[in-house]
Amino acid sequence: MKFFVDTADVAEIRELADTGLLEGVTTNPSLILKSGRDIMEVTKEICGLTDGPVSAEVTAMDYDGMMKEAAVLAKIADNVCIKLPLTMDGLKACKALTSAGHQTNVTLCFSAAQALMAAKAGATYISPFIGRLDDMGIDGMELIEDIRTIYDNYGYDTQILAASIRTVNHVKDSAIAGADVATIPPSTLKALVKHPLTDKGLEAFLADWAKTGQQIG
Ligand code: G3P
Repeated sequence: MKFFVDTADVAEIRELADTGLLEGVTTNPSLILKSGRDIMEVTKEICGLTDGPVSAEVTAMDYDGMMKEAAVLAKIADNVCIKLPLTMDGLKACKALTSAGHQTNVTLCFSAAQALMAAKAGATYISPFIGRLDDMGIDGMELIEDIRTIYDNYGYDTQILAASIRTVNHVKDSAIAGADVATIPPSTLKALVKHPLTDKGLEAFLADWAKTGQQIG
């Protein structure tokens, strides 16, 4: 499972890219607002920090408007992935953009039927929103499992990009369910490496090492 980071905060992206573990970035209008940056400028900067896809979302609601915005966003860099809403116009734009050779990410997916439609539209990625379903008392992970089954049944290439991830367990369960990618907020991504027994064990090793009086090298 690939790891993308779900943010438009350049400092956070740079820090994670430096680890060599970052494989892409997703943004959305709310994350652009949070960054306080101009969408064109910040997307260009982000595209320079990773070789992986950088999802940039259109905001038009109609097909023509989406195509115009997609053309502008696609010019930013070769690794821009056009993010489109799961509406009929969004799917129509997805089909056209995919056919023209662009990467596409169909977002705001809350049902397996919607995911099937996105696959038919040739989406590179489908973004099921786990956390927002969990917020409503619906098991978001079941949606990932259902999409995995449907895509495998028919051999669709569309990659399942688990989104709206809130916890370390969301990441683990997405991997078990067979998601191709998880897009993870920076704080959750950093939390993946943490375990209290790792900290405790390290503390004990370092204390014993100090008692040996030795140095390596
Ligand atoms: O990028 C879309 C998605 O990950 C948003 O997550 O936390 O706003 O539901 P959230």
